[in-house]
Amino acid sequence: MSIADLTYQRKTTKAFDPTFQLTDAQLADICALLQMSPSSTNAQPWHFFVATSDAGKRSVAAGASGDFGYNEPKIMNAAAVVVMCARDHMDDTYLRSVLAQEVSDGRLPTEEAQANQHKVRSGYVQKHAQQAEGVLQWASKQVYIALGFVLLGAAQMGIDACPIEGFDAAAVDQALGLKAKGLRSQVLVALGRSSSQDFNAALPKSRLAQSEVITVL
Ligand SMILES: Cc1cc2nc3c(=O)[nH]c(=O)nc-3n(C[C@H](O)[C@H](O)[C@H](O)COP(=O)(O)O)c2cc1C
Repeated sequence: MSIADLTYQRKTTKAFDPTFQLTDAQLADICALLQMSPSSTNAQPWHFFVATSDAGKRSVAAGASGDFGYNEPKIMNAAAVVVMCARDHMDDTYLRSVLAQEVSDGRLPTEEAQANQHKVRSGYVQKHAQQAEGVLQWASKQVYIALGFVLLGAAQMGIDACPIEGFDAAAVDQALGLKAKGLRSQVLVALGRSSSQDFNAALPKSRLAQSEVITVL
């Protein structure tokens, strides 16, 4: 299937089949999509929690009460739920750990290249730290790139998905002890198989016309 056809075909899943499980190979591919998502300066300012057990999903569902209760069945009936988190700061220790990985992966063969890479990345972090929105907002943008990756990747794998912003992030942060880890939950993705209750599966897709949203210069 062409990539364009895939984008027309994929739909947000509004109800999941609770009996469906992902295979280990599918879970590994989902993890690869998360790990391999690109980020500005390769800072990878994120962490992803993947809940497949009932207990894990229940801790994520701590964020789906009250106004967000409509998303609770999606979290509990999905085969896996990813809590996509952004770093709220990037200190020198963290940035040096990213650098060490790049060195060990062979991207920076000289000391000069390593020093330059560290300087550029640290400079971006400092620039964003000085802005009102801070490092967290910059990190959050990178997390949403990973969201796009995983949504399209899941569709290609024949796995149904629902991105979820309708949740109480503070409650999820508390349930997973994220503040102490320097992380904040940004968005969830529920993954699994659409059930017969999924009203969205039968509805046509709707988007503004390309002429409305795209201008060729
Ligand atoms: C960032 C983001 C957050 C979303 N949050 C929710 C949500 O909390 N609950 C839900 O049912 N759908 C949610 N959606 C799904 C959107 O409503 C859906 O993507 C949009 O209507 C387009 O439909 P499609 O994904 O089927 O093409 C979210 C989508 C995105 C991209």
